[in-house]
Amino acid sequence: MKALPLLFENNRRWASKVSQSDPTFFATLAQQQNPEFLWIGCADSRVPANEIIGMLPGELFVHRNVANLVIHTDMNCLSVLQYAVEILKVKHIIVCGHYGCGGVSAALESNPHGLIDNWLGHIRDIHKRRFAELSVLATAEERVNRLCELNVIEQVKNVGSSTIVQEAWQRGQSVTIHGWIYNISDGLLNDLGACVSSGDDLLELENM
Ligand code: CO
Repeated sequence: MKALPLLFENNRRWASKVSQSDPTFFATLAQQQNPEFLWIGCADSRVPANEIIGMLPGELFVHRNVANLVIHTDMNCLSVLQYAVEILKVKHIIVCGHYGCGGVSAALESNPHGLIDNWLGHIRDIHKRRFAELSVLATAEERVNRLCELNVIEQVKNVGSSTIVQEAWQRGQSVTIHGWIYNISDGLLNDLGACVSSGDDLLELENM
């Protein structure tokens, strides 16, 4: 007997529903994937990438980690980015954070969390740089939520300054990076206006 039978049952039901509505769906997908979008989001179970933007399998290339970070030396994220830009030739890269992010709020706590504190150090760096703006906010919730937004903008810059995107722009390849934030309490996305499709856009965002 298989472990976790409910999940296999769900899977069979899902696969048969998809096949019923489009009998060639899986056969077509098995040949190739051709997504236009790369999604870089948080690992949080409440932010399921495909679902919240109505994308089917094959339409969204996805990388998720704690607090949607794009770190210059993270080979996992960079490999996804390289494959998405150079092979799949996605036109849009969406960095999507979410309000109330556990990673962001843990970064602001003084108690230790073990290994993950090394990862969250990147968020503490942003907090230090933007301390003046964050410290005037009245509540801890507001500070976390603003830091969630600032973190997204910072990661948009990191995507834009990666060698992968820089080289794509130099080749004349069209790649636009978007910074979005998702609200878990109403299911709605918000565009943070950090939209970057060239080196000039990136410079403008750096000076914001
Ligand atoms: Co999160």
